[in-house]
Amino acid sequence: MRTRILGTGKAVPAKVVTNHDLEKLVATSDQWIAERTGIRERRVLEEGRTTSDLAAEAARAALAAAELPASSLDAIIVATVTPDAPLPACAVSVQQKIGASCPAFDIAAACAGFIYGLAVADGLVRTGAYQRVLVIGVEVLSRVLDWTDRNTCVLFGDGAGAVVVGPTEGDRGLLSTHLYADGAGVPLLGIPGGGTACPASPASVEARQHFVKMNGKGVFVHAVRNIARASTAALEKNGKTPADVDWVIAHQANLRILEGVADKTKLPLAKFYLNIHKYGNTSSASIPIALDEAVRDGSVKPGQLLLFCALGAGLSWGSALVRW
Ligand code: ACO
Repeated sequence: MRTRILGTGKAVPAKVVTNHDLEKLVATSDQWIAERTGIRERRVLEEGRTTSDLAAEAARAALAAAELPASSLDAIIVATVTPDAPLPACAVSVQQKIGASCPAFDIAAACAGFIYGLAVADGLVRTGAYQRVLVIGVEVLSRVLDWTDRNTCVLFGDGAGAVVVGPTEGDRGLLSTHLYADGAGVPLLGIPGGGTACPASPASVEARQHFVKMNGKGVFVHAVRNIARASTAALEKNGKTPADVDWVIAHQANLRILEGVADKTKLPLAKFYLNIHKYGNTSSASIPIALDEAVRDGSVKPGQLLLFCALGAGLSWGSALVRW
């Protein structure tokens, strides 16, 4: 028995923030951002809406695509590092908003969160106890970005992507997942404040500890190396070569990272489905958003081989191989 993706969905905020808009906030330029990252614009969630609102919208689209009611779900997994609040899990708000009544929990694996969530859902389904699992990758990073820090604020965007998975007897479905983590990477990327190490206080707010801090160059090097290794591991495990892959649905962090991965793995860049120019880095949401767009625009066809791969804060990274 395998786990198959039965339907996909996405939700992105209507508000577009272009690189030119950011030129008014920080010392940057459309040319710098586009050349260094491939990003032209990103979406920012409207005031008054939350992470779980966006997640629920993507979930409803995935359920509609799978032709399933929310009442059929056996579990909801939300991959996010920007939940509505530190407590409780964002997934329980999503459960309530879509009208489901199943167990619901969050996974925090940053940009690798969707692959981690998919791996957990795969395990649940293959026990035979869970028939329908909703996996959502969602982030509202705009609320944790320092809009005075040009090193970070130009890179990220808000969005949500979702899939419904269930068991299948056929050849199609999830062939393997590979998950990795290395806590030596903790200093490279994170939000220092708001947890037990640095509880919220007037001093932590004053020191801007509640915003994303990043060593961009450090992350870049690890991203290229580890996404490439995880991708190669997925292919080797299944006896496949780069030529067998039809689409690479990679975490959309930075076009130059993906060029590096293409170079190292010998997977042609033309096989990478790219939408980073429209959304920036939406962390755990980027793979399911790209997947949903690739499915709906007809790029992805039944029987094709898809490679998912990502790296994010932690460091956490991974890959998945899917026969669509
Ligand atoms: N606009 C203009 N100049 C900028 C900006 C900006 N937005 N940001 C930084 N700069 C400046 C720097 O201050 C530096 O100036 P200096 O030389 O006077 O000090 C100069 O540009 C060069 O900076 P570098 O850090 O050398 O630029 P680099 O080529 O490394 O690109 C970038 C920076 C885009 C952040 C790159 O390191 C990167 O993409 N890293 C990966 C980070 C990432 O993707 N993080 C996302 C989360 S993790 C993940 O999803 C994989």
